[in-house]
Amino acid sequence: MSCCSSGALERQFGPGTAAADLRRYRWRGPRVTTRLLIRGIRPHLIRDATLLDIGGGIGAIHHELLDHGVARAWQVDPSAAYLVAAEEEARRRHHAGRVEFVHGDIGTASAMVPAADVVTLDRVVCCDPDYEVLLDRALAKTRRLFGLSFPRDRGVVRGAVTLANLYRRVRGLAFRGFVHPPDRMDALIRERGFERVFAARSPVWQVGVYARTPAAG
Ligand SMILES: C[S@@+](CC[C@H](N)C(=O)[O-])C[C@H]1O[C@@H](n2cnc3c(N)ncnc32)[C@H](O)[C@@H]1O
Repeated sequence: MSCCSSGALERQFGPGTAAADLRRYRWRGPRVTTRLLIRGIRPHLIRDATLLDIGGGIGAIHHELLDHGVARAWQVDPSAAYLVAAEEEARRRHHAGRVEFVHGDIGTASAMVPAADVVTLDRVVCCDPDYEVLLDRALAKTRRLFGLSFPRDRGVVRGAVTLANLYRRVRGLAFRGFVHPPDRMDALIRERGFERVFAARSPVWQVGVYARTPAAG
């Protein structure tokens, strides 16, 4: 199994992780990256916007945005356990008729999800060795707004990711985390016709929200 096949992702984000993440979300609310993404997205939402959350985990972004301006959402995720947890929470919040869940990665499942006004990649590019392909696939689905979060390119963050990867290697786990160059990701997104409308940081994470420029149609 190579990093990061769907099998590696299923194992990394299995039922134990999904249950713990859902408990944490119900107890403490969205994580810092999700909160920042929502802060950057909400002022730019159009009426009855649609949302595609790629790698949504337990679904925090759509749980929050379906209560604040988004009309319909799709979540695509290779982790079946995360999708079960996200669907359970969507039912609890009476969102079940407004969100659809698609099992797979955005490469293989691309045809099964529509383009959306808002597309998000919250802590997902760090799961993929090829950020360019992942960003291109996500941007191809984006009508208006694109939001992403990723680990900051700092020595201490790189060190922590390297240590975590070493631990996984010793344990025989195929999943690996990645710190990709923020400037190159930013340049790629701009080249595809977007401008940045929001940026924020925590000590570990960086968040950007981009709007499609009128010229890019
Ligand atoms: C660290 S978790 C983040 C989950 C959630 N977005 C959050 O911030 O809590 C990474 C998520 O990305 C998903 N993922 C990784 N690569 C993906 C891909 N190519 N397409 C769709 N989802 C992907 C994983 O299955 C997992 O749900």
